[in-house]
Amino acid sequence: VASGDSTVITCGSARVRLRRAGIDEIVKLRHAELRTGLPFETASFDGDHDASTWHFGAFLVAEGAAGHAGAAVGCASFMVRAHEGRPAYQLRGMATRADLARHGIGGALLHLAVAELRERDDATLFWCNARVPAVPFYARMGWRVVSEVFDVPTAGPHRVMVYG
Ligand SMILES: CC(C)(COP(=O)(O)OP(=O)(O)OC[C@H]1O[C@@H](n2cnc3c(N)ncnc32)[C@H](O)[C@@H]1OP(=O)(O)O)[C@@H](O)C(=O)NCCC(=O)NCCS
Repeated sequence: VASGDSTVITCGSARVRLRRAGIDEIVKLRHAELRTGLPFETASFDGDHDASTWHFGAFLVAEGAAGHAGAAVGCASFMVRAHEGRPAYQLRGMATRADLARHGIGGALLHLAVAELRERDDATLFWCNARVPAVPFYARMGWRVVSEVFDVPTAGPHRVMVYG
């Protein structure tokens, strides 16, 4: 179901709304999934509050086994950051709540976000520092690996991936 600028998908028995979000709506999920066990401040990124930054979230539509209505279950943020001298958006903080992974939420959220940025902001190039275990996810979404593996302290091995 698509209505205006949000989309509802079905994920097992839960329905999940995908839409543009505020950082305050997604930062707890980002902390839980990507900065597990680290201080809460580590889940805040430079640029989170920039006017040019776009955040997206996936939220449960109704109370159910997966949690309360409005609970954040997916997140992704896009910051204006050039890639090799070309204007681009850097994707950061992409995560799905672990118990709901592999149900299509991450893929649907990334698809919606890229479509919105292309349509509303003429975005053409996207890149990210992908955790190595997430590389198959981005590859499935059409992103390309463009670097060797490099290490990010506390977050492990990564590769640069691009889309567009
Ligand atoms: C990576 C992540 C965001 C993917 O979100 P998701 O909601 O699980 O993704 P989807 O269910 O939409 O997956 C879409 C497709 O990507 C591929 N994919 C996703 N995760 C994969 C994995 N771990 N290994 C191989 N392929 C994978 C599959 O082809 C999948 O389709 P399928 O399940 O029909 O085979 C999520 O697993 C996550 O939050 N991981 C932990 C945090 C993280 O590493 N974030 C990325 C930081 S760079």
